[in-house]
Amino acid sequence: MSVESVEQSFDTVLVVDFGAQYAQLIARRVRECHVFSEIVPSTMPVAEMLAKRPKAIILSGGPASVYEPGAPPVPDGLFKAGVPTLGICYGFQAMARELGGMVANSDIAEYGRTDLTVVDEGTLLAGLPAEQSVWMSHRVTCSAPPAGFMVTARTASAPVAAMEDPARRLYGVQFHPEVMHTEHGLTVLRHFLAAAGCRPSWTMVNIVEESVEAVRSQVGDKRAICALSGGVDSAVAAALVQRAIGSQLTCVFVDHGLLRKGEALQVEKDFVAATGVDLKVVDASSRFLSALDGVTDPEEKRKIIGREFIRVFEESAREIVDAHGEAVEFLVQGTLYPDVVESGGGTGAANIKSHHNVGGLPEDLKFSLVEPLRTLFKDEVRRLGEELGLPSEIVWRQPFPGPGLGIRIIGAVTRERLDLLREADAIAREELTRAGLDRDIWQFPVVLLADVRSVGVQGDGRTYGHPVVLRPVTSEDAMTADWARLPNEVLQRISTRITNEVAEINRVVVDITSKPPGTIEWE
Ligand code: XMP
Repeated sequence: MSVESVEQSFDTVLVVDFGAQYAQLIARRVRECHVFSEIVPSTMPVAEMLAKRPKAIILSGGPASVYEPGAPPVPDGLFKAGVPTLGICYGFQAMARELGGMVANSDIAEYGRTDLTVVDEGTLLAGLPAEQSVWMSHRVTCSAPPAGFMVTARTASAPVAAMEDPARRLYGVQFHPEVMHTEHGLTVLRHFLAAAGCRPSWTMVNIVEESVEAVRSQVGDKRAICALSGGVDSAVAAALVQRAIGSQLTCVFVDHGLLRKGEALQVEKDFVAATGVDLKVVDASSRFLSALDGVTDPEEKRKIIGREFIRVFEESAREIVDAHGEAVEFLVQGTLYPDVVESGGGTGAANIKSHHNVGGLPEDLKFSLVEPLRTLFKDEVRRLGEELGLPSEIVWRQPFPGPGLGIRIIGAVTRERLDLLREADAIAREELTRAGLDRDIWQFPVVLLADVRSVGVQGDGRTYGHPVVLRPVTSEDAMTADWARLPNEVLQRISTRITNEVAEINRVVVDITSKPPGTIEWE
């Protein structure tokens, strides 16, 4: 699905990015309202923005203050373009300043939850309570709106906390409607989208149809290959491409032997059953194990696993190319929108995801990329997977690192240690599911401290076994994380079962470190 093709069938909202983390959240919320949104840098000329035929524009918040030297300006001519525009936080201040309002550094900063008083409902606050809680983060305050604007809300220290000019369809809010702490934030965004005339027509059913068409026209009658990792992104990408071009797609699943219990089988059986995909399974576990023999350094393990993966994939790709001749032109990748935004929105080959281990293919194996998920966020990819009928075990799978259990064994990786860890990990996952907590937990690594032994007692005997570490975390994006407060009874069941059922593990400990300072994985 190219961004261009989406624009033709759906209304598009451009989110002008003054600071990436804000822009992504705004874009996601707009999409929750079933309107397609695309993030563009604030340096993009207005003519280029208008070429995307936006139905509305949102100016994001950002870390700068409008008075700082080098603060990013509003793109020249934007307010004259006649496109309904909403400014948020920094975007609001930049709008107020640009159009002649009074904006100044304030003695009192507002950070966090703040009480907002509606003075005139206007369009954005229509039907909302006179007093409500919003999320603020600013030092600069607007004290008088530009000519033509009416003030719709204030706070104790911001005389203009929301304003609008209905004639020009320009709107501004000092608070962040995109964050969950703003009580009625989503309604405010909905009101803006409605005022701008955006249709809520961006739905999963439409996305599937649209993407299938886009893949068909890109690939034509040529062949494509896709490396399945067992993770959700590659699975959804493959399922979508399969729906578009059927048996012209061949998937390769390299089983490196470092997956969790049952996962390889899930790809081989359930995924194939759900999609009918043509799958080539390569059991390369012995090869990976011998390459990892005696290696304890985490980065060394990663390098070896990455290298072996490329080699195995390359060999299989070559076999498929040989079998089908010149016509294998495309490589399917599960690149997601955050990767596209964070790498500057670039297209094509430069974007191959190195950590998915299919970067670095040799020169003579050149493919064009098919990236059907490059406009989607992770949660949208999961919903798309459901729409495509994939098993929920695959769609809702926790993020899992490419090097797999190889970096969850502290010490050298052996088949026996992998088997131990797989059993302990399976118990932890089973109990989490049984407690109905799967979707509350971002990731739940179980880590085997293979070089540590401690004394225990089981039955009448002394044991001298290994500990495992439970590392359940909550997170939004894996950049930061907190240790998950699992209920004690769940922890207890996991501990009892692991020590009873997995010989050689006689101790279970819980990691209560946030990220930072810890990372999610132990290696
Ligand atoms: P850390 O441990 O850095 O992990 O907090 C952040 C996220 O990245 C995943 N991770 C990896 N994913 N290859 C991957 O594909 C890797 O080498 C790798 N290392 C960590 C980790 O599981 C978490 O989601």
